[in-house]
Amino acid sequence: LKLSSHNLCFLGYGNVNRSLAELLLDREQELRERHGTSFRITGIASRSLGWIANAEGLDPGEVAAQPPSGANSQDRHSQSDVRSWLAAAKCDVLFEATSLNVESGRPAVDHIRAALEHGAHAITANKGPIVHAYRELRDLAAARGRKFLFESTVMDGVPIFSLFDQLPAIRLQGFHGILNSTTNVILSEMEDGLSFEEALRKAQALGIAETDASHDIDGWDAAVKTAALITVLMDVSVKLEEIGREGIRNLSAAAVRAARKEGRPYKLVCRATKTENGVEASVRPERISAMDPMARITGSSSYIYFETDIFPGLAITEETPGLYATAYGMLADFVRAVWE
Ligand SMILES: NC(=O)c1ccc[n+]([C@@H]2O[C@H](COP(=O)([O-])OP(=O)(O)OC[C@H]3O[C@@H](n4cnc5c(N)ncnc54)[C@H](OP(=O)(O)O)[C@@H]3O)[C@@H](O)[C@H]2O)c1
Repeated sequence: LKLSSHNLCFLGYGNVNRSLAELLLDREQELRERHGTSFRITGIASRSLGWIANAEGLDPGEVAAQPPSGANSQDRHSQSDVRSWLAAAKCDVLFEATSLNVESGRPAVDHIRAALEHGAHAITANKGPIVHAYRELRDLAAARGRKFLFESTVMDGVPIFSLFDQLPAIRLQGFHGILNSTTNVILSEMEDGLSFEEALRKAQALGIAETDASHDIDGWDAAVKTAALITVLMDVSVKLEEIGREGIRNLSAAAVRAARKEGRPYKLVCRATKTENGVEASVRPERISAMDPMARITGSSSYIYFETDIFPGLAITEETPGLYATAYGMLADFVRAVWE
């Protein structure tokens, strides 16, 4: 097996990219022996850490432990200049995992564009760029002969987008599912007796809530995921405003408990159906029949059911994902990007 070596850069260094750095180091041997891929980490950036690059390699543990004025301050670059950071790191693969910007997807869109123009593959866990700039970034990547991959944006690292790479010429007619873990944890915990606030704190402690938890509670995260699936898998450009959206803020703990007791629990359900002129889509709390598999999706688990012309119903359940679930999708994207 011929070994290829790649310089990796991490933009955003929170829950997702930190666990990705750990997972990559944990799977170094498998990547080398099974996939002929080796790597070194040459760039790490976040608002609080600064923009750190060293083409000879960085020790992520050391970077995370040091204050911005620490010993490696000569490796730090100014924030406004993502391009010089990518160049100083001689970046081959950018892992973008900054916070979700629902309104514009920025600055993540600009960072991904800069990485592709620099000649790197761009891999993101951030849904903003898919909803706001998918076609542009896809076409730019193709023009530069690089990959723009985003498996971890929906259902952590479960192969959803890459599943459809294995289903050529199929027609996706619709889907429904439970795609936001934070609200599903909150609903399950409320069923078990916690208040809304206690349940939210539990979701935040699990590291699954968005930086701004109202993005989860008001259904934005679920709507953005729904839009990402429609954009990529149905090839329909949909604006977020076109997705009917209602969150779980107005559900009382008593109503949630009573619904479960009656055997028809509340779930925040994402739906999309292809129509003659486009797609009809919604995100809203629904009472689910006890017979529906969604009734059994509790806590941080998630679920999706695809309706295609070949397979009328094709469903995937992700049961209580571990810490590495999101990072794994980015690792798998890395292998897909460089495996040629
Ligand atoms: N957590 C999950 O389970 C999960 C699952 C799938 C997808 N995602 C997505 O992955 C992304 C990251 O999630 P996370 O849980 O890792 O979030 P997080 O822990 O809040 O980390 C976000 C990181 O991005 C940095 N950042 C934010 N805005 C920035 C900017 N303008 N320039 C540079 N750095 C910036 C933050 O830096 P500072 O802290 O220094 O400000 C922080 O290091 C989000 O888009 C999220 O939707 C998360």
